[in-house]
Amino acid sequence: LSDHPLQGKKVLVTAGPTQESLDPVRFLTNHSSGKMGYSIARAAFILGAKVRLIHGPTSLKPVPYIINQSITSAQDLFECVKRHHTHYDYIIMSAAVADYTPVETSTEKIKKNDNELILKLKKNPDILDYIGHHQVEHQVICGFAMETQDLIENASKKLNKKQCDLIIANHLKTEGAGFQGDTNVVTIITQESMKDIDKMSKSDLSYIILKECMKIGAKK
Ligand code: PMT
Repeated sequence: LSDHPLQGKKVLVTAGPTQESLDPVRFLTNHSSGKMGYSIARAAFILGAKVRLIHGPTSLKPVPYIINQSITSAQDLFECVKRHHTHYDYIIMSAAVADYTPVETSTEKIKKNDNELILKLKKNPDILDYIGHHQVEHQVICGFAMETQDLIENASKKLNKKQCDLIIANHLKTEGAGFQGDTNVVTIITQESMKDIDKMSKSDLSYIILKECMKIGAKK
């Protein structure tokens, strides 16, 4: 590989959580810090790519010399990805996207009363599934999988159902994996192979993920 193996390539990365608004003061979200996705975006830039990072609300500094684009909800992310996905050689979906959103967002703060509060949620669009089914020629699509049960089985199902080229399965229950920290523990699943990657920094892991993407890209 040359020093800049992604020179001339365009990489789209999603990162961080989404926020699904309930009322003017509350939202549903998850624990994603954005670190994994920002690391991938930074590594892709260092390897020579033009990079667009679309991210939910995080406390991280923008990655220099790339396009940093911020969104709030899963629907915002969907619209943003739909606008751009066909122009990218590599798409890496590391954002932790809410599967459900409130049916209604109250314009006023929801008042407390003596009864239970029942929230009605509707399904969000599955963005990875959409781009997988609208993949353009030579494009490589990488998803992540976050499961607390039957990780490998469920991640492999996601690979096929969402029609992506590889899935990075996070070993959420292993120390040093998943949300917030600076390390991760994953299995990289493609149609042909399954590779366990021991605990390592999200930064080092980013280069491994990109290398796997490039291997697939070279065959397309
Ligand atoms: O941000 P950090 O704190 O560093 O943590 C990193 C991480 C754990 C968030 C990251 O490594 C990760 O696993 N991100 C994906 C989390 C997720 O949403 O997993 P999932 O199994 O629910 O979704 C599978 C894939 O479909 C993901 O690529 C996700 O981006 C995508 N998805 C999910 C739901 C949805 N409505 N649309 C999607 O595109």
